[in-house]
Amino acid sequence: MSSRMYKPTDHVIKKSYLPSIQKYKEMYERSLTESELFWTEVAQEFQWHVAPKPGGFMKYNFDITKGRVFVKFMEEAELNVCYNLLDRNVKNGFGDKIAFFWEGNSPDDYTRITYRKLLDLVCQFANGLLAKGIRKGDRVAVYMPMILEAVICMLACARIGAVHTVVFAGFSSDALAERLSDAKAKLLVTADGAWRGERMYVYKRTCDDAIEKARTFFKHRVDMCMVVNHLDRVTPGGSLKSEIKDLYNWNEETDIWWHEVLEGESNICPPEWVAAEDPLFVLYTSGSTGKPKGVVHTTAGYLMYAAATFRYVFDYHRRDVYWCTADVGWITGHTYVVYAPLANAATSVMFEGTPYFPKVDRYWSIINKYKVTQFYTAPTAIRALMAHYNVEDGNLTMPDLSSLRVLGSVGEPINPAAWLWYYTRIGKERCSIVDTFWQTETGGHVITGLPGATPMKPGAAEKKHPVYYSSMDTFRPKQGWDRTVMIVHLPNKSNRTRGFPFFGVEPKILNEDGVEIEGPGEGYLVFARPWPGMMRTLLEDQDRFERVYFSKFPGYYCTGDGVRRDEDGYLWITGRIDDMLNVSGHLMSTAEVEGVLASDPRVSEAAVVPKPHEVKGEALYCFVVLKEGLQFDADLVKTLTLLVRQKIGAFAAPDTIQNAPGLPKTRSGKIMRRILRKIAVGDHEVGDISTLADPGVVEELFNNRPAEA
Ligand code: PRX
Repeated sequence: MSSRMYKPTDHVIKKSYLPSIQKYKEMYERSLTESELFWTEVAQEFQWHVAPKPGGFMKYNFDITKGRVFVKFMEEAELNVCYNLLDRNVKNGFGDKIAFFWEGNSPDDYTRITYRKLLDLVCQFANGLLAKGIRKGDRVAVYMPMILEAVICMLACARIGAVHTVVFAGFSSDALAERLSDAKAKLLVTADGAWRGERMYVYKRTCDDAIEKARTFFKHRVDMCMVVNHLDRVTPGGSLKSEIKDLYNWNEETDIWWHEVLEGESNICPPEWVAAEDPLFVLYTSGSTGKPKGVVHTTAGYLMYAAATFRYVFDYHRRDVYWCTADVGWITGHTYVVYAPLANAATSVMFEGTPYFPKVDRYWSIINKYKVTQFYTAPTAIRALMAHYNVEDGNLTMPDLSSLRVLGSVGEPINPAAWLWYYTRIGKERCSIVDTFWQTETGGHVITGLPGATPMKPGAAEKKHPVYYSSMDTFRPKQGWDRTVMIVHLPNKSNRTRGFPFFGVEPKILNEDGVEIEGPGEGYLVFARPWPGMMRTLLEDQDRFERVYFSKFPGYYCTGDGVRRDEDGYLWITGRIDDMLNVSGHLMSTAEVEGVLASDPRVSEAAVVPKPHEVKGEALYCFVVLKEGLQFDADLVKTLTLLVRQKIGAFAAPDTIQNAPGLPKTRSGKIMRRILRKIAVGDHEVGDISTLADPGVVEELFNNRPAEA
């Protein structure tokens, strides 16, 4: 695989804010040494009710041995995010500029909205929220398809100081119920349903179930459910509209249509000025114990950081049309569909559908239709699409994509083959690819390329380097690593994020003992100081926040990812080193899935490991130990698969469920997951198993591998 460097082309450089690596280095240095000046310049573009006071913008403690961990940025300042995204842009002359081109699931459904119109609708909805008793600090849950109302709702919350918590609409009613109650949401905003491809999803029904489950299982009552009547206005995919209403309940006391909330409401709504450190939103992410973590982001720092990363990482200019394919239910959707583009007065595309409907060229035809200049998507999508184009199918022609300048990648490692395809077939060897590493917790990009500045490397160099086990407790080089296996079975492992820290971010590589590795080397990715956009705490769980992110290496934020620094100083993310899985860019914990499998009364124990997958990056491989005397059969596999879909969501469905007579455990009862990973890929080189309580179980597990695995 190529270790060649690809230099940014003139096509990119001539527009770039940072046209050379030297410029990046100078600015990066300044962001650390003159941090306050650096962020003052960013802050000057925004409107403040109380301006940030010079002298110690950033106050923090990362060292748990010295007291509680905290991060405060521009603490005494006051502002409103919604005002800065909408009113400020309208005042600056962008009222008639398109904020979003909305493209529906069907190519026949599309619309556009200007900054002024968006402001009107946000104010109207904000007034509607106020009229229904929602106030500053209240939590509003959002379970929505990719429609403009999702953005309007998030911004209306920001306008009145309410805290939104968006739950990805692929989550099941169980998962939604858990989040509704953990967040103590007063209100749930949803849509009756939406079409994705040829399937209709009835979100209101999931919400009905979730509200009921929140009440019965968690004793939490959601006061109200607001519903966008979306299905009536889009091209039906087959089902009769009159039948749709029978698919969900309507509770006259608690349910209300979105358009009725807007009725009679003024389009003027004075913003609620909030403190810089007031919460803007909570977003749940998977935790390794299985219980989701409510990541809290606050106001000023998140806004500054989102705005700055968007500008430099995508090199956004006023006439550009930017498109991020992420769903608003994930952090990428929050920061790079909603907050960051609007903070830059950008014009974006928002897409409701799937890349395969009506045909597999949908992404490329949308890029062509709106003349997209920056395109930001996940490697899974690229891998899935490139498979269609790599077969000899004369019907698949690519439309003109010459508007493109910057291509982004996010969520998981992009393998060299996918990188090269993206670079040549989509970018036509003229565009820069920015591989952006970040997390729900980081708020925005933290390690990334910059389009005009960073020469790009599509793949890791051919040389061998250690790979690490999936456990924070046992982080050490893997023994007996076979590079052939790496290439054949683990395409991802050679595909690391390639990049440099964004401004204000100070990454370090630590070894197991917490000693810094300088120069080339591999270890834990940690950050030595906060940046404005990072999370502030976990919702009502400061202890867990400190335990998860700050206890392993006092003084550092620990990402949970491994990293390697190469000879040129590039950082390559080597993947999670805790028990997390990344399926198609969706992060989930092994414990979460194991908990669901073990909730079936027939199951005595379950263990889940990731298995490399050509398209999804990783797939779930589950080992299930049944209770004495019970039979393992296809029906059980079906039931367990369904159970995971019901309890978490379809995206978490296991690829393989294997019957396990027992699990490989140490004498102290710890499951040795590295052995399970080997079994999942059929690799008999399991290394030393003498520490197992029953080494014989390994052979039995190999013999029990299902034929399709
Ligand atoms: O393991 C890293 C992986 O995704 C994790 C964060 O997941 P989440 O909080 O859901 O946010 C995803 C979108 C920002 C990270 O800990 N990850 C994210 N981006 C990359 C990545 N791994 C490799 N390369 C990336 N560009």
